[in-house]
Amino acid sequence: MSQQKRILLLGSGGREHAIAWKLSGSSRCEKLFIAPGNAGTSACGENVAINPNDFPAVEKFVLENRIDMVVVGPEEPLVRGIWDYFQEKEHLKVIPVIGPSKAGAVMEGSKAWSKLFMQRHDIPTASYREFTTDTLREGISYLKQHTLPVVLKADGLAAGKGVIICKSHKEAVKEFQEMLGGKFGDSGSRVVVEEFLTGIEFSVFVLTDGKNYKILPEAKDYKRIGEKDKGPNTGGMGAVSPVPFVDEVMWQKVEERIIRPTISGLRKEKIIYNGFIFFGLIEVNGEPFVIEYNCRMGDPETEVVMPRLKNDLVTLFENCAKGTLGRVKIRTDKRTATTVFLVSGGYPGDYQKGKVISGFDQVKGSMVFHAGTAVNAAGETVTSGGRVIAVTSFGKDITSAIRKSKRNAKVIDFEGKYYRRDIGKDLL
Ligand code: AMP
Ligand code: GLY
Repeated sequence: MSQQKRILLLGSGGREHAIAWKLSGSSRCEKLFIAPGNAGTSACGENVAINPNDFPAVEKFVLENRIDMVVVGPEEPLVRGIWDYFQEKEHLKVIPVIGPSKAGAVMEGSKAWSKLFMQRHDIPTASYREFTTDTLREGISYLKQHTLPVVLKADGLAAGKGVIICKSHKEAVKEFQEMLGGKFGDSGSRVVVEEFLTGIEFSVFVLTDGKNYKILPEAKDYKRIGEKDKGPNTGGMGAVSPVPFVDEVMWQKVEERIIRPTISGLRKEKIIYNGFIFFGLIEVNGEPFVIEYNCRMGDPETEVVMPRLKNDLVTLFENCAKGTLGRVKIRTDKRTATTVFLVSGGYPGDYQKGKVISGFDQVKGSMVFHAGTAVNAAGETVTSGGRVIAVTSFGKDITSAIRKSKRNAKVIDFEGKYYRRDIGKDLL
């Protein structure tokens, strides 16, 4: 397995920049294309202006550029069935797609499906009921007697906005009616009503070939916009890896009760899965529960997981595609990695784009992963999204890693920049 590969990576966020950085550092990567990428990924390979959900355009590019492997960053192309699209065509079939089949991506694509899957395989998760417009009345009376807070989840993909934690019955009934009324389009035509779990969340990642699995470094992400976890949810304000409270005992429970039954469940159900599984977990009184499955890596977790992964990523993906992950041993950097996200003023509400970003040349001792960035007509790097730059650092512990991330978070600048200064503090 020493042949070099021409790789196409789909996506445009911080996660994709971190994956691109890792792939481009491999001696086995002959050429890397990122579709569509961002201002940062162009330093790792060639950006190509293709929408990852436009499968015929991806197909055309793959054939014209003799691509050997397609790596899928975000969930949407997976949930829409990019893996199956490749399988269905003789000339594409031979090109591995790193990511699950459509049947596997449903783990993230349908929360109701994933709850049933967990029930079938006895995987610990919050108790729940599901409702549709046909059972709206029943749902309302169920909600009215539910303990508070109560969690409502739109069944389908809703760009990270489909989960609502309601503190009163009145709010719950209103949200429930709005969801079933089409607030999230088709995604909300089925609603999962779930028990609220109190605990600390953490993220676990595996790469699986459907039979074998390899556990990657775990991480904790910080979702709220405000310090001390106040304010609305975002796409992620920072991350830390490893997570100190995830000790040997916890790992054993996670592997035995969650990872193993998930992989064997997929296998028993004949679901083809060659890619990442992201387990969103919560520790409740020392016991792990699944909050959600995702069919991809996490963002901003990838920005700390990839730097800690010592294996060659091209070789890992190749083994993942061939079903030979069993022969791989994962090696990780023992140091702590932290990332701090610089976001646009106003985010996650309205914010402005096109702000010139300065200070990259003054960054010392951190890695910079781009998310919402672009290059303007004058050739300047500018903001193009809410989450703009992730500043990742290594340290012997959280304190020393965070110190570096914060120092460089200060140095990179753009109008309206905001970042949380308390990433990792709760873990000290
Ligand atoms: P998601 O959009 O599925 O990532 O969910 C967003 C967030 O909602 C999760 O990361 C949790 O913080 C929270 N959440 C979801 N389900 C529950 C639950 N059953 N109990 C407590 N918090 C939850
Ligand atoms: N960090 C959470 C996610 O990627 O969904």
